[in-house]
Amino acid sequence: MVIQKPKSAILLVGGLGTRLHPLTLQTPKPMLSVAGIPFTEHQIVKARAAGIKEIVLATSYLAEVFEPYFGNGERFGIEISYAVEESALGTGGAIANAAALLQSDGPVVIFNGDVLSSHDLHAQMELHASQNADVTLHLTTVPDARAYGVVEMDDVRILTFNEKMENPPTNIINAGCYIFNREVIAAIPPGRVVSVERETFPELIASHANLLGYVDSSYWLDIGTPAALLQANRDLISAVAYSDAFSHLMEGSEFTRVGSALIAHDAQIDPSAIIRAGSLISRGVKVHSGVVIDGSVIGESAQIGEGARLKESFVAAGTKIPNGFIAESEFFGFSD
Ligand code: GTP
Repeated sequence: MVIQKPKSAILLVGGLGTRLHPLTLQTPKPMLSVAGIPFTEHQIVKARAAGIKEIVLATSYLAEVFEPYFGNGERFGIEISYAVEESALGTGGAIANAAALLQSDGPVVIFNGDVLSSHDLHAQMELHASQNADVTLHLTTVPDARAYGVVEMDDVRILTFNEKMENPPTNIINAGCYIFNREVIAAIPPGRVVSVERETFPELIASHANLLGYVDSSYWLDIGTPAALLQANRDLISAVAYSDAFSHLMEGSEFTRVGSALIAHDAQIDPSAIIRAGSLISRGVKVHSGVVIDGSVIGESAQIGEGARLKESFVAAGTKIPNGFIAESEFFGFSD
């Protein structure tokens, strides 16, 4: 038997990102900067490292933001194209729509565009190929599974899939990275909203398809809330989480890691200012005397006035924070 390893991938980046308002009013969630680069870049570089040659970004909300940054993918060593949904088609509809642009045959890796994961994609591919699966889901365990898709399993086989429920039967959850055979994608009804979580997976189980789970316990984080986004920054900068793209960024000359904070080289920071762990200080930022910045993201060319104290907050590019301002868990400068 010839085992075909996936060469192509689809990245689901078309969601509204409502839990991240107001950060996502003008920037789609996957384009938010995480540890100095758009989140999607971490995922594209991970896909390339696992042998993926072409990737389709399945876009909808603020679709026009992606292509100017990623182009045809040449800069990232991977072929990138863009599927645009005029109105959002849901996760399944997005997969069907994007698959039409893929040029190679064989199974397809699907990534949710908002998951930071160190799982071994090679091992997931191996399981898929060796067990002749129809779909193989990456699964992880969490203490409280109520906000996720929860599975029950028999060895590697998924027996039930339940999207977000009050009393989950296990704590094994859908970690948002799938390998789909082409036949399964071809069976997704075209041109309408389809959710893989609510429709495709339950139907595959009901029809006794070979739906497998690759369970692993490596670093995993859904970056969909402000607190999680700050945690992703903190974890990448302090090497709790790993990303090839972040390693490459550190080899360049744009940013320096200072303790567990990331600071752009051209940022002007008064020597009396304190920048604490998990903070990201972008290019062109000016931080005045006596400022304390703790676990916060400061956008490009923002100015932080004398004596200001910011904790777990987000400051949009170009925003001026007045002298003496004190804030915790707030957003500044993000609007329609
Ligand atoms: P919230 O509104 O905060 O729940 O975020 P979200 O819109 O991103 O939704 P969710 O986290 O459930 O989506 C999971 C992944 O699928 C994300 O990467 C989304 O970008 C993506 N996604 C969700 N719905 C669609 C869709 O209709 N089309 C496309 N292309 N992607 C989608």
